[in-house]
Formats: sequence, C-alpha cells, structure tokens
Amino acid sequence: MKVILDVDTGTDDALAIALATLSPEIELIGLTTVSGNVHVDKTSVNTVRVLEFLGVDDVPVFRGAAKPLVKELRTVEWVHGSDGLGDSGIPMPRRKPEDKPAAEFIVEELRKSSPGEITLIATGPLTNLAIALLLEPRIVEKIQKIIVMGGAFGVTPHGTGNITPVSEFNIYTDPEAAKIVFESGAKVSCVGLDVTMNPSAVLRAEHIDRLRGSGSKAAELAVRVTRGMMERVGFFALHDPMAVALAVKPELFKTEEYYVQVSLEEGDLRGQTIADRRWFVRELGEKLGIKPRGAKVSIASWVDGPRFLRFFLDRITGHEGKE
Ligand code: BDR
Ligand code: CA
Repeated sequence: MKVILDVDTGTDDALAIALATLSPEIELIGLTTVSGNVHVDKTSVNTVRVLEFLGVDDVPVFRGAAKPLVKELRTVEWVHGSDGLGDSGIPMPRRKPEDKPAAEFIVEELRKSSPGEITLIATGPLTNLAIALLLEPRIVEKIQKIIVMGGAFGVTPHGTGNITPVSEFNIYTDPEAAKIVFESGAKVSCVGLDVTMNPSAVLRAEHIDRLRGSGSKAAELAVRVTRGMMERVGFFALHDPMAVALAVKPELFKTEEYYVQVSLEEGDLRGQTIADRRWFVRELGEKLGIKPRGAKVSIASWVDGPRFLRFFLDRITGHEGKE
C-alpha cells in the first residue's frame, strides 16, 4: 500500500517512522511534518534525522504547517525533550526537507493517484490534512483511508484524555483541523488513547532489554528516544507506531463505528472527541427517528497488546522473538 505519513516527530513518531520503513506492506511515498510536540522547524529536522539514522535516503520529507488553523500552538517539550527526540543525541542530518509545502505535496500525489491507491497515516495534529482538504476537497474521492493517531473516546477504560482530563494531545492541538478531517467524507480510522494506553501494549524494561541486545539501528533509535520516559514513568506508550500497525496488521485490533463530534470549546473540553455511545441511538436510532451526532468514524476499541508488542519488536529488531 502507498502511504503518506504525516508526523510531528516526536519520540513515538520516530518509532512510527521506523516501523513504517521496516514494514514491507508499506511503500512510503513521502513524509509530511507539522507543528505539534515541538515546532515544525524541529519536527522537520527530526524527521530527516530519524530517516538518516535508519539509513533511509530515498523518502522525501515535506515541511508543513507551523501553527494550528485557529488556535495558538502549545508544544510539549516536557514530554518529548527540548529537541523533540528526547535529547538523546541523535546526530543532526545532512539532508534538508524538500521546498514544496506538505499540503501541496499531499494534494498533488492524490490528484495523480488512482482512487484508493494512497493511505494517509497521521500521527500529529491534523493541520496539514485539513489544509489539503480545504485546498482540494476532491481528493476525498482518491484517499483509501486516513488513519489517525488521536482521540480519547471512552470506548475502553483507558480512553481518558492525556492533555486535559478528556482530550488527547493531537486533537487538542488543532481541533478545528480534526473536525474538518472527520467531517470530510473520507474514511477515517482512529487509534486513540483507548488502545494506546492499554497497559498490555506499552513498552517496559524487559522490552528495552530485547531492543538493546538486537544490534539494529531502529532498535538503537528506540532505546535512545524512550530513555527519558522510561526513567520518569517506567513505561513508554507506543501511540504513533500503533497507527502504523493498524494499517499493516488490522487483525491485531477490533474496530467499531461511532459518530464522533470534536469539541471546539475553550478550556479543558477543547479537542474532546465525543463518540455517541448511546446504545439506544446506536441500535434503535433509525427506528426512533433519533439522529446520532457527528461524523462516522471507525475507532479502535481493542488491541491484542502482547501480539502488538511482539509484532513491533520483531520489526524493529529485525528478528522473530520467542513466543
Ligand atoms: C500523541 O501526542 C503526541 O505527544 C504523541 O506523539 C502522540 O502522537 C499521543 O497523545
Ligand atoms: Ca505524534
């Protein structure tokens, strides 16, 4: 499958990039960058930095939006380090991003593609995708689907917010963009905190030991960018790699369709993803004449944590692990 990966690299974005480049199911036609975890100046450098570290020199990188559509940018260096890659000393790159802006690249690639040929995977705020859809709404007919790492839907006990009690960071950062993407008519699948925060799916010390012994560049990258979080909280959530996993190993997940609204309120409700979970609306809505609220979105509601981790570690180390 042809993929454009939209990232705000970011420690876990770095691992999503590694997983995508090591997945034979994916033909990565380009990476686009956005402001989110840190400013786009840094996420762009980091994206090239990660590719060079992995020895990948044939995937172009396009710099995207510097700020959300409407709101101010609020970066999270306290999570990802002052450089966005956990201040782990990954060498600076020689290559530079391309001159073409990210949204333009997305529009052009989709315009010349056949319907269903290109999948978009977004692991940052949805600003670039929204701009592309505003520039050329007809790209919707070409997109296979948009897989978003984002949202906290309350469909599992882990689906609470992370940046506010109810909001997940990527959607919180640019809720207006998320609303445009969700309501665009494109097929949207969300991998939210409901599954990425499942305790059986996060990296722990024993996994780091396996990575350390492997000798692969991707494993070295993983050890380095996860170190800060491992030291601070004792585990590392693989939010962004999980979006890549949904693209290549959907059998690791259960997904369900919900109607979802994105809150544009100020304060703690900003960016809340409200899934209409009312059973009587889901089951009897049509009969009762009650319309569900929001846009139809497919939500990952379950992940096989141990199998996901095995899959991730096998790909990153380049070795099949023990069962
Ligand atoms: C998301 O927010 C970012 O900090 C991570 O890179 C991930 O994309 C998790 O809420
Ligand atoms: Ca991210």
